[in-house]
Amino acid sequence: MGRFANSTDRSSGLEVVRDWNGVTQVVLRSPKGASARVSLHGGQVVSWKNDRGEELLFTSSKAFFKPPNATRGGIQMCFPQFGYSGTLERHGFARNLFWALDDEHAPINHNDNGSKVSVDLILKPSEDDLKCWPHCFEFRLRVFLSKDGDLSLISRIRNVNGKPFSFSFAYHTYLSVSDISEVRIEGLETLDYLDNLSHQERFTEQGDAITFESEVDRVYVSSPNVVAVLDHEKKHSFVIRKEGLPDVVVWNPWEKKSRTMVDFGDEEYKQMLCVDAAAVERAITLKPGEEWTGKMELSAVSSTNCSDHLDHPVSI
Ligand code: BG6
Repeated sequence: MGRFANSTDRSSGLEVVRDWNGVTQVVLRSPKGASARVSLHGGQVVSWKNDRGEELLFTSSKAFFKPPNATRGGIQMCFPQFGYSGTLERHGFARNLFWALDDEHAPINHNDNGSKVSVDLILKPSEDDLKCWPHCFEFRLRVFLSKDGDLSLISRIRNVNGKPFSFSFAYHTYLSVSDISEVRIEGLETLDYLDNLSHQERFTEQGDAITFESEVDRVYVSSPNVVAVLDHEKKHSFVIRKEGLPDVVVWNPWEKKSRTMVDFGDEEYKQMLCVDAAAVERAITLKPGEEWTGKMELSAVSSTNCSDHLDHPVSI
């Protein structure tokens, strides 16, 4: 923490703060006024704001904000398991653990021309973690904020074990939306999906863009690397670019499920949509010494410019 605390420098767009539980958070600020906030609890991105100060990620007003549970909202790191597909707690343990600043990299970076600011975090398993999942790994997470306010996450997971291991992964991303009934997703049309509401039965998406009128919990498989979430009322779209992450999980709990979630308001399903860049259908296997990389870049663009952004690949 010492070296990191000394790195706090508001003029460079970086600040280290503590939340009300005393947990370290790193705030990244772009020169134009956008910001992101990353917590060492879970490596979770707990806030991402545009240059007008508008929050782009959803966080529940009923969230617990108390470790060890991940805060309901933001971007959670689901590793080494997604959902209940294995023997671990839902979505794995990474989102509930305390991460550290990565000593092998400068703990806070901003590139020479100041166009990006970033922070590096690392998660290594403790003795207790190894009892639940006996595989030694290093999980490095770099979070960038560009000068235009785009948010990027790069995860690097290395097998430092003597034996191969397999895992699934997701950037569990709670987007803030004006009204779920007015939102549509483009880029997933005609794809196959596994429906978590029907024991992961496989279906093929038939419609045009995906719209919402009831609970949805699906894993779209082998998806393109760019997906857009259009929000007419907010007059902006989220463009999600990804690399190394073949699947997209789409989740909205709708009314009935919302009432069963203690850390989620009954009506809050209207203001959120989870769209996760993920590797779920096929586990990723790493041999000893191998490393996997998964990238996601989020941009919030004016709806009129959305189509211009859909052809660009991940820029990090
Ligand atoms: C989604 C899953 O990603 O996360 C859903 O597809 C799950 O099945 C949801 O209900 C929330 O999970 P949790 O563990 O954060 O309540």
